[in-house]
Amino acid sequence: MQKGPTRRTVLQSALSAAALAAYPLPRFADASSAKFKLTAAPGRATLVPNPDLQTPVWCYNGAVPGPILRLRQHSTLRVDLDNQLGEETTIHWHGVRLPNAMDGVPGLTQTAVPPGEAFSYEFTCPDAGTFWYHPHQNSSAQVGRGLYGALIVDEEEAIPVDRDVVWVISDWRLQNDASIQQDFHNLHDKTHAGRIGNVVTVNGSVIDTFEVRSGERIRLRLINAANARIFALSFFDQRPTIIAIDGQPVKPHEPVGGRVVLGPATRVDLILDCIGRPGDRHRVIDDFYSGMTYRFVDLSYIKEEPIRSQFPSVPALPDNKLAEPDLAQAERRRIVLTGGMMGGMKSALVDGREMDVMSMFRSGVAWALNGIASTHHAHTPLFTCVRNRSYILELVNETVFPHPMHLHGHSFRVLSRNGQPEQFRPWQDTVLLLARERAEIAFVADNPGDWMFHCHILEHQAAGMMGVIRVE
Ligand code: C2O
Ligand code: CU
Repeated sequence: MQKGPTRRTVLQSALSAAALAAYPLPRFADASSAKFKLTAAPGRATLVPNPDLQTPVWCYNGAVPGPILRLRQHSTLRVDLDNQLGEETTIHWHGVRLPNAMDGVPGLTQTAVPPGEAFSYEFTCPDAGTFWYHPHQNSSAQVGRGLYGALIVDEEEAIPVDRDVVWVISDWRLQNDASIQQDFHNLHDKTHAGRIGNVVTVNGSVIDTFEVRSGERIRLRLINAANARIFALSFFDQRPTIIAIDGQPVKPHEPVGGRVVLGPATRVDLILDCIGRPGDRHRVIDDFYSGMTYRFVDLSYIKEEPIRSQFPSVPALPDNKLAEPDLAQAERRRIVLTGGMMGGMKSALVDGREMDVMSMFRSGVAWALNGIASTHHAHTPLFTCVRNRSYILELVNETVFPHPMHLHGHSFRVLSRNGQPEQFRPWQDTVLLLARERAEIAFVADNPGDWMFHCHILEHQAAGMMGVIRVE
């Protein structure tokens, strides 16, 4: 932390360029390539605050979450996956606009990696931002048991902050001995809101407080790695500024209604200016589900004098320069989401066969996109896009549950919700549709290949809510 004259200078001229210069620059991942090895294997983790209670998990390199993979924008990531699980796996690089063959979707972009075997992923990261990785095979169980980690791509020129912090947020369904409840793929989770856990962790453990220092500016990268839980974090008078969503910069703004909403797979980068006083405690709560509000964490101010007393305005992140969809010329497509409990769906085409809803539920299939339910990754595309053409997708949620819909290989602009224009038109790779909500998204189909479009509530995905969009 700053000491002596430097700090005084900062306090005296908080809004000057000198104040900005006083932020230490985060250390860059350097070089033009980064190489990692990830071993997926069973392990143990201390999730709950009791060292006697360890949880058998599945994890990368012995830890939950797996290691933070960090590299610089435009450099090449190489990851050697070693599968030491008792079943097949893959790694999907969520949100990265990479070549189709590296996307990690078994049966669609690669063969699943058998137990004991290896696979190497190698691709360039075109966008700076906060991304993450997870298996795309038996995802509900593999992610639900702890297989995921953060992928951070550093801007060529980062914005100055005192600390760059990653929070991989997840939840778990634990029994009293802290072991994972083994009821993956049960019909209730598939037909309702998914596998929502009873224990929430940040970076793999239940946390009570997060220490901050008065006057510091933190870049807080939130990653929702939960199977199904949606978070809505309120920071109250701490008033963070959102600077990126799903890795892509957005005009810096305060969260609408004061809540930072994170559907499964969503990332939000915040600037948290620590305006409290030494010794303060500030609550952060999660109140997404009505009647289930809980204290998420307390920001606990260490008893050190403030680093600074005023904060310069929050700068925008440098643009990743995505291709801008041509809305006037764009082709429109409609995707209707049906199914689930109380959804009124009568029947759907399940892997090519017409089924009524009761027989669907009996065979563990519960959702459909445009009347088609898919339980495996490879199938006829929902539609085919002409390369480099602009598309507007109208997503219509006719169900009574929320669905975070994720498109692989592209980022899209969210244009509107329920006919109302979306403020800032953010670039995202996953858009959360609330019950009965509709949204319009737009993108340029500039990445050739077969790309998954699916719900990121992993039990919904397994129960039919996935499709393929082909770009050729
Ligand atoms: Cu985060 Cu299809 O995945
Ligand atoms: Cu869903």
